[in-house]
Amino acid sequence: MVNTVIIGAQWGDEGKGKIVDMLSAKSRVIVRFQGGNNAGHTIRVKGEETILHLIPSGILHNGTLCLIGNGVALDPAVFLGETDNLAARGIDVSPARLGVSYKTHLIMPYHKSLDKAREAKRVGRQIGTTGCGIGPCYEDKAARVGLRAGDLNNPALVREKVRYALLEKNTLLNGLYKFKPLDPEKVSSDLLALAPRLTPYLTDVDARIHEAAQNDASALFEGAQGVHLDIDHGTYPFVTSSNTVSGNAAAGSGTAPSFFTRIVGIAKAYTTRVGSGPFPTELLDDTGAYLRDKGREYGATTGRPRRCGWLDTVVLRASVRLNGFTDIAVTKLDVLQNLPVLRICVAYEYERCRIDRIPQEEGALGKVRPVYEELPGFEDDIAGCTSFDELPRSVRSYILRVEELVGVKISMISVGADRKQTIVRQTHSHDG
Ligand code: GDP
Ligand code: IMO
Ligand code: MG
Repeated sequence: MVNTVIIGAQWGDEGKGKIVDMLSAKSRVIVRFQGGNNAGHTIRVKGEETILHLIPSGILHNGTLCLIGNGVALDPAVFLGETDNLAARGIDVSPARLGVSYKTHLIMPYHKSLDKAREAKRVGRQIGTTGCGIGPCYEDKAARVGLRAGDLNNPALVREKVRYALLEKNTLLNGLYKFKPLDPEKVSSDLLALAPRLTPYLTDVDARIHEAAQNDASALFEGAQGVHLDIDHGTYPFVTSSNTVSGNAAAGSGTAPSFFTRIVGIAKAYTTRVGSGPFPTELLDDTGAYLRDKGREYGATTGRPRRCGWLDTVVLRASVRLNGFTDIAVTKLDVLQNLPVLRICVAYEYERCRIDRIPQEEGALGKVRPVYEELPGFEDDIAGCTSFDELPRSVRSYILRVEELVGVKISMISVGADRKQTIVRQTHSHDG
């Protein structure tokens, strides 16, 4: 039995969906444990693209059980819309193979309004959120006034919670942000109208994971966003509102940390970021535009152009420490084709000193200068390569140098968006 956690090692969009889909072939249970539909995970199978925002990326494999854990912020309408889209394509999304924890917090209309209203008010200091209501939903969870999926079985509780929440939210929305106040009865009845479709999915997620484990079935835990968007360890305040590090795979699903046998960091061969915040290796020149263009770097959730830059191994080394990666998958290596030189950030210059870690004070990462090492580029098309040895020498040198700088084995190399375009470099010692 292998219980694997998949974590984005940078600022999101590393290709987690693709790797989760691939590893799902050997897993019985796939679990989302944090984030919400701010995530956009893309899978491509034989040219057909699927973008999932909430449903785990294992859903395309028959026989998997896909679970949404307590740590997720779930927008009920988005969840149902996603099930409808998949069902229309003949994919089984019945409660027999898809479940939502009773304890999963629900994103309410006032969360979305507050998210947007706050961003609009923060002129010049925007976080650049996805506007999905993620932050305000987690705020209510921490304030102990949130609605949870299990509440949908109890209309009186829903009405009471919504009424109480709106006492405060309407004051903010209307008084401060000049939004139209929301009617508690309408908000409650709109939500309860979805209950007959949603409640069949309610399940005891931690018990389902344990049941599967007792039958020796492997589980996969699908992280959303990336390590440096973590609410604690990321580039605060330019972060998302959940813990994205591997430690939260346990709390966000109801498993013990000792349950995990493999923790895979997913790292793009370069770096991207959507929204505001420090990004030391960002390229605002033609090379940045080349990466965006060739890598099709436009948000899977909001369509925004992603900021692009060189690979930053200072960022990756922090991710290794914060997550305990057993191995790393490098994705989108094909995108680096035809660049005359490849640069890797190996350290920073900060206050006239060379440092090899992220400075800890808020905003300090915005003041560092990257120290680069240069490696030769490559011109060959590598999208069809199926083994490490088939890759051109300069590509192999790049991978080996990154491995050396990061200190963790690179076990998978993705050379194209399709499920099949992945080089598995070694069978992981725990692979099952
Ligand atoms: P996620 O949020 O981490 O799942 O990543 P996204 O799906 O948001 O973004 C990754 C994008 O890169 C998607 O459009 C994928 O189809 C695509 N992709 C993944 N791996 C590769 C790769 O190796 N090469 C290329 N060219 N595209 C890839
Ligand atoms: P996946 O799972 C990239 C970013 C937003 C914004 C910040 C806060 O596809 O990798 P939020 O709406 O979460 O409050 O926004 O986080 N962000 C992501 N960036 N990929 C994601 O998910 C992201 N989810 C949130 O752009 O900067
Ligand atoms: Mg994404």
